[in-house]
Amino acid sequence: MDLRDRKILLGITGGVAAYKACDLARRLQDQGAQVQPILTHGALHFVTPIMLQALTGRPAYVELWDERLDQAMGHIMLSRDAHALLVAPATAHFIAKLAQGLCDDLLSSVALARQRESCRLLVAPAMNVEMWEHPATQRNVRTLEADGAVILGPAAGDQACGEVGSGRLLEPLEIVEEVIAAFQPKCLQGRRVLVTAGPTFEPIDPVRGITNRSSGKMGYAIARAAREAGAEVTLVSGPTRLPTPRGVRRLDVTTAREMQDAVMAHAASADVFVAVAAVADWRAEQPSPAKLKKSTPAEAVTLRFVPNPDILAAVAALPSPPFCVGFAAETERLVEQARAKLAAKRLPLIVANRAEDAIGADDSELILVDERSSVTLPRADKLEQARRIVAEIAARLPAFNR
Ligand code: C5P
Repeated sequence: MDLRDRKILLGITGGVAAYKACDLARRLQDQGAQVQPILTHGALHFVTPIMLQALTGRPAYVELWDERLDQAMGHIMLSRDAHALLVAPATAHFIAKLAQGLCDDLLSSVALARQRESCRLLVAPAMNVEMWEHPATQRNVRTLEADGAVILGPAAGDQACGEVGSGRLLEPLEIVEEVIAAFQPKCLQGRRVLVTAGPTFEPIDPVRGITNRSSGKMGYAIARAAREAGAEVTLVSGPTRLPTPRGVRRLDVTTAREMQDAVMAHAASADVFVAVAAVADWRAEQPSPAKLKKSTPAEAVTLRFVPNPDILAAVAALPSPPFCVGFAAETERLVEQARAKLAAKRLPLIVANRAEDAIGADDSELILVDERSSVTLPRADKLEQARRIVAEIAARLPAFNR
């Protein structure tokens, strides 16, 4: 419920993607938001106020001069206790009006009348590719951004008009993820963050290998939280089933050595490195090029292991390392072992957790350990924990000398 108690004005303008706004209204409410729909006249060609009212439990307003709104001051009243105005879909025409500050209907008047500090403007464009790419639209979008609006998307792909290209409305769940991100403090704005996540898979033969039960959830949550905080995030991921967090660049790898190569290519330019991956400690010295047969006598099958590189230690040993954060999953003496790791790998911060507790789970209890202190982050879901860790990293960064 990342939007609990958030009041969101959902502005719907006249494009065919308005049908997605109906689902969006529900998905915002799933996250705890209160949704107040406002429609333009154009939107009425695609969706109806009754439908939006049924979906949100609030009357959907259209007219500037609606008698239900206090003292004919609806454009002021509606925006005063709202935390965001989300226009989805936003047509080229409506974006042009916003850029100009025109206010000839209720929605554009609310956009102009809102208090910009407390009621953010989020705009999700949807239009034909030529309209989106037109210099006039691009100019208008830049103007909106300069005025403090956040532009969500658009995505590229098949369009309702039959053409293909940029201009598709983001999917409702993607918009919800962006709205949630817009409310997070931008404590890592302008920073580059590199994250490893998931298990590695070390082949024994073309079909078998050594891996572990890491799901990747914690690393993906850190990547998402860092991006929400304004960072440019690269996620180096072992094999997982998880979707890539929005706005995060993901590099897929399989083995520890592939992970090391991908990390080393980006570590020098990163401000922060968070090593969450459960890297296999060993790999088979010589994976068999052919599948090992069941008929092979057991005594003829021997596996020799060699240790994998320690990626985190290698990054921390760079001449000018990023701020390095390790994860330590232990079954006993958590703080003591975490602090030993902190010293051995020369890290400013390590996050300790109980291995049996954290691997694959949706929530965890964590302990932040540095040279002097250890602080428990009480049990919470992994995204919440990730946001706390990101805030902690951001607080420590200014004092960190590379
Ligand atoms: O030494 P240990 O494996 O317990 O250390 C855990 C931390 O080191 C984690 O942050 C993990 O991502 C990182 N690590 C690594 N490369 C390895 C082993 C662990 O980056 N080969």
